[in-house]
Amino acid sequence: MSARREGGGGGDRPWWHGAVVYQIYPRSLCLADPAGRRERLHLAPGAPPDRVRDGAGDLEGIRHHLGHLAELGVDAVWLSPIFPSPMADFGYDVSDYCDVSPLFGDLAGFDRFLAEAHDHGIRVILDFVPNHTSDRHPWFLDARSSRTSEHRDWYIWRDPDPEDPSKPPNNWKRSFGEGPAWTFDERTGQWYLHLFLPEQPDLNWANPAVVEAMEEVLDFWLARGVDGFRIDVAHALGKPDGLPDLPADKAEMPYSALIDEPSTHPILKRLRAHIDRWPQQPVLVGEVFLIDASKVAPYYGDGDELHLAFNFVPMFTKWSARSFRRRIEEIDDFLVPIGAWPTWVLSSHDRSRHRTRLGGSERRARAAAVLSLAMRGTVFLYAGEELGLEDADVPPDRVVDPGGRDGCRAPIPWTCEPDHGWALAGSEPWLPWPPSPQTCNAGTEASDPGSVLALYRRLAACRRASEALRWGDLERLDAGEDDVLAFARHSRSGRGNETAVVLVNFAAETTRVGEAELPAAPGGWRVAVSSGGEGAANSEGSPFAETLGPEEAVVLLGARLTHD
Ligand code: GLC
Repeated sequence: MSARREGGGGGDRPWWHGAVVYQIYPRSLCLADPAGRRERLHLAPGAPPDRVRDGAGDLEGIRHHLGHLAELGVDAVWLSPIFPSPMADFGYDVSDYCDVSPLFGDLAGFDRFLAEAHDHGIRVILDFVPNHTSDRHPWFLDARSSRTSEHRDWYIWRDPDPEDPSKPPNNWKRSFGEGPAWTFDERTGQWYLHLFLPEQPDLNWANPAVVEAMEEVLDFWLARGVDGFRIDVAHALGKPDGLPDLPADKAEMPYSALIDEPSTHPILKRLRAHIDRWPQQPVLVGEVFLIDASKVAPYYGDGDELHLAFNFVPMFTKWSARSFRRRIEEIDDFLVPIGAWPTWVLSSHDRSRHRTRLGGSERRARAAAVLSLAMRGTVFLYAGEELGLEDADVPPDRVVDPGGRDGCRAPIPWTCEPDHGWALAGSEPWLPWPPSPQTCNAGTEASDPGSVLALYRRLAACRRASEALRWGDLERLDAGEDDVLAFARHSRSGRGNETAVVLVNFAAETTRVGEAELPAAPGGWRVAVSSGGEGAANSEGSPFAETLGPEEAVVLLGARLTHD
């Protein structure tokens, strides 16, 4: 417990302010106990191996690597779904919200993992998938058993059009595949709504019984001691009255990327009030997939809705100083005025990894790491980005995801050996390894001070040690060069005033930034962290060279000024 508090917020700050949260995709982190899995699944000893099942990671594998996460300096982990699921959407189709999938472990194993994470000072956030269940969830099985079943109204049903029974009730498109967001249920003669796969029927949040059942789910995990939830498609819970057609110019987009209904806000506010009663200060982080800060901001409410909402815009931003400057301005325009705490996300299990998106260059990935870990906000790292991983090349016969996201979900290599630290016993992992696993792996990088991993560790340590970087305000600076993104972070506290300056050279050429362009620092600016690598102009611990190498990013610290 004491270790948890040390990593917590300063003064009255909640623990997640300025925190670094590490996203784990449980199938892909590591496999440690394949025999336990086969036993939990009651597989006969001779049962033939199945790659997608036997080659997936487990909770034990995650537990084994808590030391890596503690050394990396993360404050919390977020686990993508670990619950029982038929895996049509690899866990985002939940068939029991209050258990652990036998693929990953069991409740006792989860409790062990949680306790050990807390001993390391790492909080644990679970994925909460409230918009839809699996079509094999007992609620849906009951709902589709008859029109008068107890759970019928827990889902969203519509009669067929008598003129054209083959026409879905409206023109909404589902995510994944081209189809409609509706499937006709032959047995009961009605359509049901699913913003994602037909195997993921949408729950009806206008039904108070659904709300209560979901609050019980939250309580189940909070009572075990979890520290919060990431809410899947949080913006989609309220559906528009009458489920009207979309205008034709929008109808080709999946509706889950458009829906933005006022009725969602009271639902989220109620969930927030519900979890606020728990003593561990749980956090609610919402996936509001609207890719526009002005549309995401209202989901913070008046400080009474989501604590945090993912800021995904950087994942759709090209590598240019001007574009990232705009990302910071949007935070200033829409979040700062309402007192909302921002987040930064460069990679996740739903998008190509940022190193791959940014062209594969390690130098660029290193600069992006400095940029993200020096931002004002809560930073979400996606497992493997600290190793500089790129997406795996997935041949057609290894494709498993209906949404085309396999590449970024490749298994994490821990060592340079052929099974890369996974207990595979010579068989294959569920997806191919990412490129260069012999060198891009945690073990090899841990012993190389020039590695991407070493850079992430220095950045997280620097952020932890500097109040300015962790909590300070952000002031946009003009470094006098279009290609250089510059900002300062300032903090004022009992420990004194502190300023950090962050410079990112997006150009492929060396660029001069004189101290005259920066705020005054008595004694000058010292390089706390440089993205280093090929062509770097600055070395850590030295005075700022007043020059940035090609695509070099630096964090500069001055002397701390104590109050009068
Ligand atoms: C969210 C998840 C994604 C999932 C979808 C449906 O967008 O991040 O992985 O497929 O919701 O649950």
